[in-house]
Amino acid sequence: MEMKCDLDCQSVRQILKQHGQMHLLDFYDGLDEDKRTQLLHQIRQLDFSVMSEWIEKYVRRDVALSVPETLNPAPFYPAAGQASKQDRYQEAVKYGSNLLAAGKVAGFVVAGGQGTRLGFEGPKGDFPVSPIRSKTLFRLFAETILAAGRKYGTTPAWYVMTSPLNHEATVELFESNDYYGLARSDVFLFQQGTNPNFSFDGKILLADKGTLSTSPDGHGGSLKALYRSGAIEDMKKRGVEYISYWQIDNPLIHIFDPLFIGLHAMDGAEMSSKALIKAHPTEKVGNFCLVDGRVTVIEYSDLSDEQASRRNPDGSLVFELGSIAIHIINRTFVEKLNAQGFALPIHRAVKKIPHIDEAGNLVEPRKPNGVKLETFIFDALPLAERSIILETLRQEEFAPVKNATGDDSPEVTRRMMIERAANWIEAAGVKVPRKEDGSPDCTLEIAPSFALTKEDLAGRLDERLPVINPGVIVYLE
Ligand code: UTP
Repeated sequence: MEMKCDLDCQSVRQILKQHGQMHLLDFYDGLDEDKRTQLLHQIRQLDFSVMSEWIEKYVRRDVALSVPETLNPAPFYPAAGQASKQDRYQEAVKYGSNLLAAGKVAGFVVAGGQGTRLGFEGPKGDFPVSPIRSKTLFRLFAETILAAGRKYGTTPAWYVMTSPLNHEATVELFESNDYYGLARSDVFLFQQGTNPNFSFDGKILLADKGTLSTSPDGHGGSLKALYRSGAIEDMKKRGVEYISYWQIDNPLIHIFDPLFIGLHAMDGAEMSSKALIKAHPTEKVGNFCLVDGRVTVIEYSDLSDEQASRRNPDGSLVFELGSIAIHIINRTFVEKLNAQGFALPIHRAVKKIPHIDEAGNLVEPRKPNGVKLETFIFDALPLAERSIILETLRQEEFAPVKNATGDDSPEVTRRMMIERAANWIEAAGVKVPRKEDGSPDCTLEIAPSFALTKEDLAGRLDERLPVINPGVIVYLE
């Protein structure tokens, strides 16, 4: 055993020497047997040929992703209810509903992020978000899936991506919450990959004396993780053809929107997106563009101010569509990409990365000291042969919990959950008291079991019309 370890160690040493990463074994001699084996294993997992390129291109320098010279706005379907295409939309709703009833659509949430901005202990899915019952994000989504099961007659399977940093804690949450009422066999939890973290001079950082510092490889990593984990195989067995992708932080998401699913499927698209009209030209969301005829998301930081503020004769922005990380992805598209082999562009994030220094002391940096490398899901869009975009409304579908305070904070999300509930209730003909500034003068929460959409709610309230007085708390379930 000792001998094998020595040989292993020697060959790893050689590789590290060749790539200027010898410091990773600085504390090797002082490690116990298990830790040594783990460290060597972790190092062996790295693909140093790819790593060297990344270090040159993205770690030591910041090579900006090249933005194509000719950018055109991407065409899109306007939001439902404002459209001239009502016939097409009605047909799509029928088509999408049939796919849901046939069990051909699965839910897929990416929850492998670290949620550093929110600063919440534990997986973000356990964050209590709903305004009255303080339901967690995971619970709200599970209740939505159960409600969709009742509505369409088939409970969709739920795929949940975690990362090695939060997998155990997430599994523990599902176990201790009895899978939030879902059948255990309908939930598939799997982990994404990681990338090492680097100092600015291209050295891989150590988290402790025997462990490399790593970060999840970005939500773009989901396309490989779905395949490697066996999730795609599982979908195939179940007859799932469409993957409804969303991110853990957005409780307003309509996970199973028959209109979106139907338009995507009827148009023969491989990967599609929902989009918002941006609040202002430089809102920090990706911009939907058309590059060489392919839908492409250009990050807000890569669009020049001139491009971002360019206007059409009617005053609307030329690049008016913002990306909100809601997609329908064909199972066969993920299979095809993985079978062919594919690489998404690398994005560099400068971060404060805790690590141990040369003396073996833990350093908790106060300012950014290194680089994390990630890929993004929207970068797969140009790989799709066909891709449609459906506009949605912010107040209806997008209120992410990102920050502890201010914009995109839980306070804003809760306010938007109440606001959406108020809008739905008013649309059903019930008066909602409002304050002078127009915000609801009451606290409202609609359980997914009560209604998944405005239309569902109208149907339910026909039976039972509540009276909502100023200042009341109303929970509909
Ligand atoms: P964010 O970009 O908000 O990142 O992720 P984050 O890690 O959650 O939060 P910060 O930046 O540290 O504050 C958007 C979505 O993508 C998922 C997140 O869980 C969230 O649902 N994600 C992000 C992954 O699943 N894996 C990743 O590697 C990164």
